[in-house]
Parts: sequence; structure tokens; C-alpha cells
Amino acid sequence: MDKHHLKVTTLLVVSFIVAINETTESRLNYEKVFKPEGKAIVTHRISLTNIISYNKNILTPNVWVFQQWIDNRLQWNGTNGPNKLTVPASIGPDSGTIYNDLNFVIEPNGQVTYVPAMRLTSQCLETGLVRKSITCKWKFGSWTYSANDKDFNPASNISLSEYQHNQRFDITETIENKHSVHYDCCSEPYTDVTYTIGLRKSFF
Ligand SMILES: *[C@@H]1O[C@H](CO)[C@@H](O)[C@H](O)[C@H]1NC(C)=O
Ligand SMILES: *[C@@H]1O[C@H](CO)[C@@H](O)[C@H](O)[C@H]1NC(C)=O
Repeated sequence: MDKHHLKVTTLLVVSFIVAINETTESRLNYEKVFKPEGKAIVTHRISLTNIISYNKNILTPNVWVFQQWIDNRLQWNGTNGPNKLTVPASIGPDSGTIYNDLNFVIEPNGQVTYVPAMRLTSQCLETGLVRKSITCKWKFGSWTYSANDKDFNPASNISLSEYQHNQRFDITETIENKHSVHYDCCSEPYTDVTYTIGLRKSFF
């Protein structure tokens, strides 16, 4: 797609979003702030695709980060409208991390799905002498929004269905946990989803 084409498509998508929005105020604010009215339940899941490196206790894997929530400002009548909209992430709701080549998928009920591919890093804990066990963690949550606005919930365990086996490691466990944390500042809790992966160096 050439640049002009992309611009036109982007404009059309933006116009459509504006058109399906009812209140003027949210039209103006939508692009900047990810804050659906009320509490957004963010369903979160990661899928491990491969391990790039493990060096000085730092594990670097590639993952898909699946996030889904309902934004009640982005609802339309699916009977006489499209049944799905694909919106470039650069103009879509702010999810904290923007990768320009990515899309949000929005459905008539306002369900937003965002699945960026990310390269994560983690400082891991090594235990054991001969065949070391390695434990690595990743935490996903929001510093900006409390659980009253954005409540993070794990959808399921770390998915290994797309994982390309790395001969240097065996995966021994995958765990997902939801945490709810209170900080001194605020009465409301902040939630996060923490993924833990246990590895063991292979004999080969
Ligand atoms: C959606 O559109 C269809 C066809 O125009 C109409 O019959 C239906 O009542 C609409 N539904 C709502 C909830 O507005
Ligand atoms: C996640 O997978 C691990 C095995 O890797 C299992 O021990 C654990 O019970 C699973 N958790 C859930 C919630 O399914």
C-alpha cells in the first residue's frame, strides 16, 4: 500500500470511529486516552514463540501479548455496519506500548483486541549446581490506572502452542498470577498479571 493510500484508509477508519461515537467529548479525547467509561476488564495472555538468548541471567524471548477489553464508546450496530474494524495502533486506543505496524481489531460490541509481538527481557534467578533451574518473571499492569479503571486478568496459562523448541532449554513450568497491590498514595488497588516461566538447561 502506498503512502497516499494508507492516509486515505486511515482517514476513513478515523472518520468511522468518530461517526460511531455518540458524545462529542469522547470523540475528541479518544485517541489520546485509553479509558473506556467505567471499569475495563483487560484480559491478558502471553504466548511464547521462541527464546532468542540467555546471557548473564537475562532471558530474551519473543512473545505475543494478547490483550482484550470492551470499550463501550466503540459500539455500533453490526447488522447494518461492518462486523469488524481493523485500526492501525498508531491511531487507536493508547495501550501503553505503541508499535506502528500493528492493528487493533474492534468488533460491534466494542470489544478491542490488541496482540503486539514483543521482545521481552527478564533478569532471571538461577538455582542448583549441576543442572541449573532458571526462573524468569514478567509483569503486565498499569501504573496510571487503578483496578477501578483497568483491571488486569489472566486469560490462561502462558501458551506454548506456538513455541519453537530451543535445544538449550527445557521448559519446566509456566505460571500466571493476578496480583492486587495497594500503594501508600491511594485507597484503590492496582492489579497486574505476572507470568513465571521455569527453565532448565538441557544436557545437550
Ligand atoms: C440494527 O440495524 C438493524 C437494521 O437496520 C435494525 O433492524 C435493528 O433494530 C438495529 N438494532 C439496534 C440495536 O439498533
Ligand atoms: C499452568 O501450567 C502449569 C504447568 O506448566 C501448571 O502446573 C499450572 O497448574 C497451570 N495453571 C493453570 C491455572 O492452569
